[in-house]
Amino acid sequence: MNTQDKQLALGFVGTGTITSAIVEGLCAHPPVAHRICLSPRNADVATRLVTRFPVVRIATSNQDVLDASDAVFLAVRPQVARPILEALRFRPEQHVVSLIATFSHARVAALVAPARTVTCAVPQPTVSRRLSPTAIFPPDRFVTALFNELGVAFEASTEAEFHALFATTAAMATFFTLLDTLAHWLTAHDVSSTAARDYVAKMFQGLADVPGRSASSFAELAAEFKTRGGLNEQFANALAERGVFAACSSALDVILRRIVESENRP
Ligand SMILES: NC(=O)c1ccc[n+]([C@@H]2O[C@H](COP(=O)([O-])OP(=O)(O)OC[C@H]3O[C@@H](n4cnc5c(N)ncnc54)[C@H](OP(=O)(O)O)[C@@H]3O)[C@@H](O)[C@H]2O)c1
Repeated sequence: MNTQDKQLALGFVGTGTITSAIVEGLCAHPPVAHRICLSPRNADVATRLVTRFPVVRIATSNQDVLDASDAVFLAVRPQVARPILEALRFRPEQHVVSLIATFSHARVAALVAPARTVTCAVPQPTVSRRLSPTAIFPPDRFVTALFNELGVAFEASTEAEFHALFATTAAMATFFTLLDTLAHWLTAHDVSSTAARDYVAKMFQGLADVPGRSASSFAELAAEFKTRGGLNEQFANALAERGVFAACSSALDVILRRIVESENRP
């Protein structure tokens, strides 16, 4: 399958947060999609997408989504996925892209047989603005090309590598908690809440741009931003002494264990 094929039909079983973000990304300018078919759930999200984008339609059932699609995205929650998938008839040549967190490649492949090509992917909400790094497993040309249109695809060559990439997505909310901590501290020191929010947001927006413009490692950038004896060095050392960075690594170990254990659960 080729992402440049304008006749490509993409289907989504599950019409929630991540489907909405992917469809917005696909339909952003210049559009990458194709024809898009959504399962008839979550009327608010589905109606909003159909109203905004002429290439989107709502199917009459989950089976209708499959019957109309060359590639089908599975975007339902893990708790309800098994009975939903067991009730569906996939075609052997249909490409299945599973977004279902904690469902291993083998488990999805067994549930969607006789479909032969299954790819697991972890897009992030920034896929809507074509800025998501998306881990995929196993490597696949079509899925890589698709997620390269929506940011950058990272092909994991083993499931363990895929799990590790997946685990780090758990840090997204903490990023905002760090920004919130800085903004709150500023408001406690006479800065208005609007100025505090804008100041912190701009600071991190500028910093987020730095690695893309440099070949330096993160450790080298940290060293570059730390004047010896300066405030950045003192702040980083104070956090390190309090175990903040070591705690991040051990929390990631906990997340990874949860992913692996839930995949091994029957
Ligand atoms: N959110 C993310 O950033 C993200 C990123 C990567 C992967 N994922 C994975 O993607 C999957 C969906 O996540 P989400 O955040 O989009 O969840 P969500 O917002 O709760 O959406 C789930 C969707 O599934 C629908 N659904 C429930 N039962 C269904 C059925 N029998 N047939 C068809 N659709 C049904 C729901 O419809 P109703 O509202 O009508 O019940 C809802 O539209 C999860 O497995 C999650 O782990 C999410």
